[in-house]
Amino acid sequence: MRLRRDPRAPEYLEKDEKVILNPETLKGKWKDHFGNAHPIHVEFGCGKGGFITELAVRNPNINYIAAERAETVVYKACKRANSKEDIPNNLRFLYFDVINCSEIFEKGEVERIYLNFSDPWPKKRYAHKRLTNRRFLEKYEHILCENGEIHFKTDNKGLFAYSIEEFSISDWLMKNVTLDLHNSDMEDNIMTEYEKKFSEMGFTINRLEAVKFKK
Ligand SMILES: C[S@@+](CC[C@H](N)C(=O)[O-])C[C@H]1O[C@@H](n2cnc3c(N)ncnc32)[C@H](O)[C@@H]1O
Repeated sequence: MRLRRDPRAPEYLEKDEKVILNPETLKGKWKDHFGNAHPIHVEFGCGKGGFITELAVRNPNINYIAAERAETVVYKACKRANSKEDIPNNLRFLYFDVINCSEIFEKGEVERIYLNFSDPWPKKRYAHKRLTNRRFLEKYEHILCENGEIHFKTDNKGLFAYSIEEFSISDWLMKNVTLDLHNSDMEDNIMTEYEKKFSEMGFTINRLEAVKFKK
């Protein structure tokens, strides 16, 4: 998501209590931070945050953390969450590169990871930047609890095929796989900003859930 840098973003993010500016200080302590023992679900590359904000509103008994590396995009996501009539207090935003996720989450601290419409990086030489590349999967495995899941969706068939291969090679089990989410039997799907855009353009949406296979 390329957006012109908004000069209002740094000050806004500094003042908003939903934004955690030094997330490494909460490593292993996220439940204390939220003040409850509810599960932690995260979205990596949350974009403008419509998906995670709606999840947080619908599920007050889950703690949500959304990470995004573009400052102006995090700013837009926070503004959107703050515009809700009932601003969810189970939602935090991080201005953060996901490759460093094991610096902010303790081993097994997370129950679910959402990856929605991750950048496809179509050129092979940039494959290492794809959020389903095996070097990311290794980090996810570390922070996820036993039976923790990754929920992944994308319009991009190339990225989906690549991701299935990466999950398989890294010993993840895949379930609820569909090549056409909107015509599947999955209920309660929340559309992301990219999902709305690409499905309106006629693209079908691919989705899967992955669980690490314990030998
Ligand atoms: C194509 S957009 C999708 C946004 C949103 N998930 C949606 O479905 O509407 C991908 C987002 O992931 C973010 N992103 C890509 N790589 C990232 C990384 N390594 N760490 C954090 N965010 C990342 C980008 O900045 C961008 O906002």
